[in-house]
Amino acid sequence: MKLIIGSDHGGKKLKDAIVTHLKNKQIDIEDIGPFDFESVDYPSYAIEVGMRVSEGKADYGILCCGTGIGMSIAANKIHGVRASVVSDCFSAEATKAHNDSNVLCLGERVIGEGLALKIVDVWLATEFEGGERHARRLKKVAELESNY
Ligand code: RB5
Repeated sequence: MKLIIGSDHGGKKLKDAIVTHLKNKQIDIEDIGPFDFESVDYPSYAIEVGMRVSEGKADYGILCCGTGIGMSIAANKIHGVRASVVSDCFSAEATKAHNDSNVLCLGERVIGEGLALKIVDVWLATEFEGGERHARRLKKVAELESNY
């Protein structure tokens, strides 16, 4: 499993903690930055992470900003990206099982590091349930990309 992660200045500390956490578990994760706390624009990082997932160059992406919201808005503009802002473990599991979420967005100013790392673990450990009803709904979501 190949992961890619990015943040803005508001999510950098959390991003770094996630990178350390996953590397300790021998998970292949590429950090695209930023590598200092200078103010940057979250869409620039959302695009890079989203494109890598969209092109199949990474299996999953993780994006951190102050709230996770800006990252999710930007990443969800990219073809094939299903980005979810998550602040609890129930939603982390549900969005993978039901929405086949492929980009996880977290808010450093919203949740603590301990909860964020648990959310990452739950999200990565959960498989998409599959089945006709979820596939049908995801097909409708995918059609939005070409129809609107
Ligand atoms: C940056 O100050 C902040 O706006 C950003 O990290 C994020 O929360 C946007 O959604």
